Amino acid sequence: MDDTQAKQRIAELTALLNRYNYEYYMNDTSLVSDFEFDKLLEELAALEKQFPQYALPTSPTKRVGGEVNKSFQQVTHRYPMLSLGNTYSIEEIADFDTRVRNILGDRQFSYVCELKYDGVAIGLTYKDGVLTQAVTRGNGVLGDDITDNVRTIRTIPLQLHGDYPADFEMRGEIIFPWKAFNDFNEQRVANGEEPMANPRNAASGSLKLQDSRETAKRRLDCCLYFMMGEKLPADTHLQRLEMARQWGFKMPQYSKLCHTLDEIKAYIDYWDKKRSELPFATDGIVIKINEIPLWDELGMTAKSPRWAIASKFEAERVATKLLSVDFQVGRTGVVTPVANLAPVWLGGTTVKRASLHNADIISQLDVRVGDTVFVEKGGEIIPKIVGVDLDKRPADSQPFEYLTHCPECGTPLVRKEGEAGFYCTNENGCYPQILANLELFVSRKAMNIDTLGSERIAMLYDKKLVRNAADLYDLRKEQLVGLEVIENDKRKTSIQEKGAENIITAIEKSKQVPFERVLYALGIRYVGEVGAKKLASHFKNIDALSQATVEELAMVEDIGEVIAQSVYNWFNDLAHLELIVRLKHAGLQFAVEEKQVSDTLNGLTFVVSGVFANFSRDGIKQHIEQHGGKVVSSISSKTSFVLAGEKMGPEKLKKAQNLGIKIISEAEYLQMLDGQ
Ligand code: IVH
Repeated sequence: MDDTQAKQRIAELTALLNRYNYEYYMNDTSLVSDFEFDKLLEELAALEKQFPQYALPTSPTKRVGGEVNKSFQQVTHRYPMLSLGNTYSIEEIADFDTRVRNILGDRQFSYVCELKYDGVAIGLTYKDGVLTQAVTRGNGVLGDDITDNVRTIRTIPLQLHGDYPADFEMRGEIIFPWKAFNDFNEQRVANGEEPMANPRNAASGSLKLQDSRETAKRRLDCCLYFMMGEKLPADTHLQRLEMARQWGFKMPQYSKLCHTLDEIKAYIDYWDKKRSELPFATDGIVIKINEIPLWDELGMTAKSPRWAIASKFEAERVATKLLSVDFQVGRTGVVTPVANLAPVWLGGTTVKRASLHNADIISQLDVRVGDTVFVEKGGEIIPKIVGVDLDKRPADSQPFEYLTHCPECGTPLVRKEGEAGFYCTNENGCYPQILANLELFVSRKAMNIDTLGSERIAMLYDKKLVRNAADLYDLRKEQLVGLEVIENDKRKTSIQEKGAENIITAIEKSKQVPFERVLYALGIRYVGEVGAKKLASHFKNIDALSQATVEELAMVEDIGEVIAQSVYNWFNDLAHLELIVRLKHAGLQFAVEEKQVSDTLNGLTFVVSGVFANFSRDGIKQHIEQHGGKVVSSISSKTSFVLAGEKMGPEKLKKAQNLGIKIISEAEYLQMLDGQ
């Protein structure tokens, strides 16, 4: 195929496949079989690869992704992305209506009510009918260019048709429809990951993925609601929505023209009840003046236009029966009561479990097994019980009796002063606490030993190979090969040679993880990533940190009394000190890596051998380098000193003596640096 033919065929296939896509995703019509479609798409992809100069920005191959963005470019919005004023009652909407009427006098106007889509705001720029840029809201003035990821959303047209303006921006919301979101969460749980709390956060995360192929898999969708540009056609908002539909945009069909407050109220009430049947999340409705020329007259307040307002829904609430209560023991020993409910549909998912928070809430609400309870979704994944329908209480119901002993290990529960929760204090002997601490230790933001998931951790524990974090560093490959694991998809597999090697390598690599993350990995109560960072940079090393008083700890920025006390207590537990000694010995980073501390050892070359009292092997090497010295692994005539610890190998000793290299002890080494 020559150049001209290729160019033509690429254009032809692009147009054809875009039309098939449009009919399929917008009109639910299949014009060709999946097989035929895939064949044409493959042909196009192959041609684009061979003749990249002719690939079009509207190509349907962009839908599957492939572009990788290490970071997203920040761009200035042509028109700032504003927000809306919020209302929570019909009275506030009446106030809005009065304000509008005061400004507009006796001019005629109407309202358009539409849903407030709960997703991620997006601005889509179209030039000559082609999607050229997709930008997030960001701070309203500057947003992130996420065009590659947005192109993968099938319902966002890459090429418009009909009589569209030459240059304009379409605004809307990228949403994660319930079905796709629930599938995505199921997959996460199967992979041993935490499910996402709500589709908005999940959509936002999906749009910020570096690899657009991953975004393509998420099955995001969009709801568009607004158009911006110079000299746009039509005088009313509703007409514009209709025109946009004709150009190929997927426009939601829920908008309604209203003339009175009563009509607005009826719309709100209707959708408040019906929203649970929608295929996506909504958090309210938006009321807009339909007549666009009036928008300018109404103008703006500081952040939002006066021609539109949002009316937010109250959190959705349903009634269902409380069947039983389980108690879960968390990583820090806190015992959380979890309600088992008769399954009930709530905001896009079937709810079977709900949080009961703690003993105080249970007794305040006087919740009893057998009660009909009210359940609400908050920001968290697990919904909460917010009340009891006392009219429906069974006659023979009994007050709830809270646990007195840990449901896992039988240790008596304690209540810490000023805290609502009950705790199991058997940190080193209570199964779920031990496992959760190990899981935290290996997690990505901690030591990042990513080859060990929760199933493997549990298996290593059950096999008595790993009882605490330090045991990980004693593992040998031979111990791992052949071990059987029930993976989270219930398959039984056994660890092969290569798998064992990967585990050992990841463990080995974790020795380079910086001090602040090691500190976080220790799982000290209340010390999250940020707290660990602050503590590490203040105290510089674990010894100083472990010896700090509560007062000294509390002087660190962002470290309050509670955290300070928790850190202090942690370091006063002998088991923890033993753990630190072993981890230090294994070579983990227990000091912040200071760049260059001094140049005392400039020009000197060291060979390090044996075991040291004050340093791990890696620690002493780092120390030498921080003072300007160089560390090499084998002794030669160029070596300045052999730094000998306990149990130095006899061969090294002999070689050093033969070459006449000076051997120094750890104490002599420290003397060399004295005064630093
Ligand atoms: S109109 C000038 N209509 O809610 C702002 N916004 O704080 C025009 N939203 O920024 C916005 N559904 O991100 C409009 N039907 C809808 C909407 C909607 C969701 C979002 C949008 C907006 C925010 C309001």
